[in-house]
Amino acid sequence: SGSVNNDDLKARIRTIPDFPKPGIMFRDITTLLLDAHGLKTTIDRMVAAVDGPVDLVAGIEARGFLFAAALAVPLNAGVLLIRKDGKLPGATIAEEYALEYGHDRIAMHADACAPGARVLLIDDLIATGGTARAAVRLLRKAGAVVTQAHFVVDLPDLGGADALRADGVEVRSLVA
Ligand code: PRP
Ligand code: ADE
Repeated sequence: SGSVNNDDLKARIRTIPDFPKPGIMFRDITTLLLDAHGLKTTIDRMVAAVDGPVDLVAGIEARGFLFAAALAVPLNAGVLLIRKDGKLPGATIAEEYALEYGHDRIAMHADACAPGARVLLIDDLIATGGTARAAVRLLRKAGAVVTQAHFVVDLPDLGGADALRADGVEVRSLVA
């Protein structure tokens, strides 16, 4: 059939209740990473979902880095790091985004991509979408063309994927 069943991957993601605070069901991908077959299957399916050529794969610190590098190699693309503000050594541009309490800032090197570069955004998980949407604003500010963002896990009840789609980005994930 044409439909891919990702229950095999879902079974390798562990849920830890009340982390990092009471009421949060933390979806823990470390168990998926530990599994050689699960990891390879995850990367293969994410690569297969990519639409058209990309110049760069942008990964969001920290867990997004793992998947961004693994996808960039078969896609023949480079990796662009989006980090928590204050971590990158060169001249940066930054974007602020709202958290449940307060705010945070992510940054990238100002010269990391050429204007018009086709950038695929990658992270392990999308929840409220605050992080990914800030990353898209940041990349577009740098002149990147961002049309697709892929995640291992989507928490659809939190609305992040829909909000990102409203920003003009195709959103794909393996597991909801
Ligand atoms: C997690 C996850 C995403 C973000 C998703 O990162 O890896 O980057 O939260 O949440 P959102 O859609 O509500 O913005 P976290 O901030 O825990 O950082 P880490 O990967 O460095 O642990
Ligand atoms: N990032 C934001 N919400 C999360 C959750 N429930 N599990 C894992 N990472 C997250």
